[in-house]
Amino acid sequence: MVMMWVVLTAMVVAVTGFEINDADYHEMPKLFQLDDWEECLARRGQFCMGTFNLMPHRNDRLFSVLEHFSSDRYHFNHTLLHRGLCLSTSCSHIRDSSPRARFARCVNNLTRSRYGLEANLTQLTYCKAGAGGRAVDDWDLAFTGVAALIVAANVLGTAYDLLRKDGKPIKYLVAWSLVANWRRLTADHSDGDPRLSALKPVQGMKAITLLLVMMAHSVLAYHLTYIYNPQFFEKGSHHILATYMQNGTSIVQTFIMASSFLLAYNLLLHVADNPKKQLSIKMLPQCLMHRIARITPLYLFVLGLATTWWAHAGEGPMWAPMVEADSDRCRRKWWTQALYVNNFVEPDNKCLIHTWFLAVDMQLYVVCTILTLVLGRWPRTAVKVLGAMVLGSMLVNYAIIYNWQMQPMVQLMIPELMRTQFPGERSFIWLYSAPWDSLPSALIGLLVAFVYHSHQLDDYRPADSRCMRVLYRLSVPCMFAWVLGGFWMKGVSQAALVSLYAALDRPLFITLTAFAMYGFFNKIDSVWWKLLSWRGWEILGRMSLSAYLIHWLLSLTLLAQRTNANRAAIFDIGGHWLSTIFLTYWAALPLHLLIEVPAMRFLQSITS
Ligand SMILES: *[C@@H]1O[C@H](CO)[C@@H](O)[C@H](O)[C@H]1NC(C)=O
Ligand SMILES: *[C@@H]1O[C@H](CO)[C@@H](O)[C@H](O)[C@H]1NC(C)=O
Ligand SMILES: *[C@@H]1O[C@H](CO)[C@@H](O)[C@H](O)[C@H]1NC(C)=O
Repeated sequence: MVMMWVVLTAMVVAVTGFEINDADYHEMPKLFQLDDWEECLARRGQFCMGTFNLMPHRNDRLFSVLEHFSSDRYHFNHTLLHRGLCLSTSCSHIRDSSPRARFARCVNNLTRSRYGLEANLTQLTYCKAGAGGRAVDDWDLAFTGVAALIVAANVLGTAYDLLRKDGKPIKYLVAWSLVANWRRLTADHSDGDPRLSALKPVQGMKAITLLLVMMAHSVLAYHLTYIYNPQFFEKGSHHILATYMQNGTSIVQTFIMASSFLLAYNLLLHVADNPKKQLSIKMLPQCLMHRIARITPLYLFVLGLATTWWAHAGEGPMWAPMVEADSDRCRRKWWTQALYVNNFVEPDNKCLIHTWFLAVDMQLYVVCTILTLVLGRWPRTAVKVLGAMVLGSMLVNYAIIYNWQMQPMVQLMIPELMRTQFPGERSFIWLYSAPWDSLPSALIGLLVAFVYHSHQLDDYRPADSRCMRVLYRLSVPCMFAWVLGGFWMKGVSQAALVSLYAALDRPLFITLTAFAMYGFFNKIDSVWWKLLSWRGWEILGRMSLSAYLIHWLLSLTLLAQRTNANRAAIFDIGGHWLSTIFLTYWAALPLHLLIEVPAMRFLQSITS
């Protein structure tokens, strides 16, 4: 009964919100406003940007409208004003010695006379007279040197590979051969080991997931800019379909599940092919080296790029807060990123917000490798142990969430928090980007690997079972339904229910995904299998790491180099998404071919 009441109230609030009509909306001061940046710089004026706090002055009624409107979590906070003004044009009537004071008094004067409200400068982003950012420094030059070395290594390796006579190649040279690496990228393993070619859909799943991640990040990136029509998000966020944006974050877990699945399954196959070998914990360093060799060189390169030339790659009023600030934070904490502890060390200083995933993935990789190596000898016991661990980890998560009163992501995806990238938000740091919340997904991946492997040994065919076929047909629609279900959680505040949902959110979604994946591998139907095994996905899927790393930089660049406030609309954001995809895969291609693969093969050739 209580449950029903809570759900009903949530529905009413979520549906009605705190709306005002469009005419009243425009009575409120514009939330974001930007002056002409090019003109200002051309006239050698000072351009200042900052955030102001509104306070009542003469117009108490307007202020209470602002407060009321802002009290809806899915609206921006309209008691704040964001301004980027050219002092020599917009503020020519105010005289003051320092640009900061002039800017503050100017906006205050304008808001007072126009709206009867007091505006107090609370955060000055910058005041500057020229476009120039940071000058080119030693870091930039050092990075250029490294990039040149990498290109040289590729030229050398390719030349060696093309010119060498038959015979045993020098491994660490041929690793850099562009020709060989291109062949690897486009290789078709369809007629190879059937156990491996059955896994083809996994690349499709990865590629599609990444496309959806880019879409969500396009929406997030729009929130970081000055938005011309913030009401687009304010109105849209109450729509039921917006739930896919707000609650779709679980989809990233697909990567975690797939990567632990592949880890365990490949190890199990390795043992099956080499009966003399047994899995043992002694293989741990080797497994870790393998992973680090694959990820770290590329990751360091992208961090290097982000801390150096990225900051020089454009200019505009929003360039400093969106790109230069991120780049500076990365300079300060790049070592925590390289050690994969950035989600624990100074978690509030976010360097490239999407890299939380790499840290969590690596942390869970260690856990999963240990589990696989230990449990691998007793595959049947492993299934039971892993099943118990999935439930156990969910219980622990429930306890953590309940005790610290954390919130599921669907309640955090609100405009004001997205605009500021979740500063000091406990649930983001200690739940969303913490390894324990992704642990169930990783364990489910392991579980599926063990189950799938033992079913193969037993020659069990799920396609023959009616029950499996029905469940399989239901799994993909259920994934969509489960995400959509978050709509009814948006307004719920009852602690037990919120914690329960937060603890179930990711594991349930991943259980459905894992079940669907298991069905794809077993070819329960051919439509999904054909769709996901398309050659194109296979190639894009292989570039996933490079694409994931670079897409956020491009997504931000596209918006940050604009000099006017960004209009938000389905087609604008969709266009931004498509341009991001296009640029991302073109950028990922050289990253994958010239750095990711060669560096991995090079490191493997000198360590093995
Ligand atoms: C809006 O921002 C002001 C100033 O930071 C803050 O005092 C107020 O609580 C915020 N309003 C809402 C609804 O979050
Ligand atoms: C704004 O500044 C102008 C020029 O300094 C002044 O005449 C006017 O009274 C000010 N308005 C307010 C509301 O302070
Ligand atoms: C305006 O903000 C500053 C801090 O930026 C604060 O010290 C000052 O008290 C505020 N003024 C008013 C009137 O609230």
